[in-house]
Amino acid sequence: MEISANTQAIAYLISAILFIFALKGLTSPASARTGNYYGMAGMLIAVLATLLGGDVQSYGFIIAGVAAGALIGGVLAARVQMTAMPQLVAALHSFVGMAAVLVAVATYLNHAALGTLNSLLMAELSVGIVIGAITFSGSVIAFGKLQGIISGQPVKFKGQHLLNLLLAVVIIGFAVDFAMHETLTSLIIMTILAFLLGFLLIIPIGGADMPVIISMLNSYSGWAAAATGFTLQNNLLIIVGALVGFSGAILSYIMCVAMNRSILHVVFGGFGGDDAAAEVSAAGQAAEKGVKSASVEDAIYWMEDASKVIIVPGYGMAVAQAQHALKDFMELLEERGVEVVFAIHPVAGRMPGHMNVLLAEADIPYDNVKEMNDVNPEFATADVALVVGANDVTNPAAKTDKSSPIYGMPILDVEKAQHVYVIKRSMRPGYSGVENLLYYQDNCSLIFGDAKDVCENLANALKGGAH
Ligand code: TAP
Repeated sequence: MEISANTQAIAYLISAILFIFALKGLTSPASARTGNYYGMAGMLIAVLATLLGGDVQSYGFIIAGVAAGALIGGVLAARVQMTAMPQLVAALHSFVGMAAVLVAVATYLNHAALGTLNSLLMAELSVGIVIGAITFSGSVIAFGKLQGIISGQPVKFKGQHLLNLLLAVVIIGFAVDFAMHETLTSLIIMTILAFLLGFLLIIPIGGADMPVIISMLNSYSGWAAAATGFTLQNNLLIIVGALVGFSGAILSYIMCVAMNRSILHVVFGGFGGDDAAAEVSAAGQAAEKGVKSASVEDAIYWMEDASKVIIVPGYGMAVAQAQHALKDFMELLEERGVEVVFAIHPVAGRMPGHMNVLLAEADIPYDNVKEMNDVNPEFATADVALVVGANDVTNPAAKTDKSSPIYGMPILDVEKAQHVYVIKRSMRPGYSGVENLLYYQDNCSLIFGDAKDVCENLANALKGGAH
């Protein structure tokens, strides 16, 4: 069965509308599942309309590719831990980038063989190759840093920005030459330099700033797909690429605001921590003061008859999968008339919306969940702030210690609660590698242990009604 060009265009339009509904659905945890269904339906229609469109030369390769991709993708999706999602996303972005480069090169070779090269096509190919190559090598470095294959420390050297700028200018020069003279040499040099630029843009980014980079690369991968759409003259790919490009850019902006970073620095590579922060800072001096540790019973004593408890989940909750135990604990507190609020920092965990997803999975009502700006004024009126495996997002050094790499990042004001209990396993720092000044405050105690175990013990202690 083969469909006409008009039918295909209408199918593409329906897909594009479904993708827009999908994005709209993904703006709230309550509608995210429906949004995903819209996206899946849109993709199914898009793939079918393309396969039946009459441009297909041979179904053999396509079936083999789909089968291999579905197998690898299915196994990965079933096995990947929630905490490893950012790496997976980075790896997937790299595929989009490499696909854009390969499609552009294949299109060039195809047209060269047919003798149908022209300047407009060359310009389109250049854009696809450059954005695709930057996305590919940048995403590979991001993957390596997040997976721990390469060091998460920022790699900085003098004249880095100047070198990046020079490289960008040289790449544009070769792209113009390629568009005008259609030479293979320009294409090869331009491609290699774009790979190098992607590498150089990401190596100066430190671990704590990785979330913004992931969403920035998401945006780049969208633009790479849009450029491929121009190359293949596929309107749907152009629309979808632009949707991904813009939504990634908007998300990056929102995250930059959340972390108090400049978007321009992210785009041009290299921002964040001052290396001086590695020297002894306020945190080092605070270490001398010692840290209080507490038992589950101590914490329950202050929580069982409290009027308000604010729970701050972080990466440790995700690692321990403590969300279900927390849900039980929340319900037990609520039965005793305690108001329970979950406070979400925009970059808590390891991916945007990480905490929202886990809390939704445990059926914690959305009304109990508040974002940082809404919940911060409430800490001062809370009897207890219970921090569950969160660290960086509660570190007051971000407000007070100018030498800290996280200085300027808005944080959850947990220290303002009357009592603060932090559940973690050791004195190890969080993702940014910075010591948390919170632990040295008079109203703060640490409950050492795995988050799930401790949360279950908290619930059991309440159930036991020992107090
Ligand atoms: P982190 O600062 O990384 O702290 C997590 C804490 O959880 C650690 O102190 C760790 O201490 C504890 N922990 C780990 N496993 C645990 C377990 N099984 N039970 C109990 N505690 C456990 O997390 P955060 O406060 O959520 O902040 C997120 C950080 O990640 C930020 O620096 C952010 O910039 C970065 N980041 C975020 C994203 C996104 S988009 N959200 C992406 C990449 C990076 P112990 O080892 O002592 O237990």
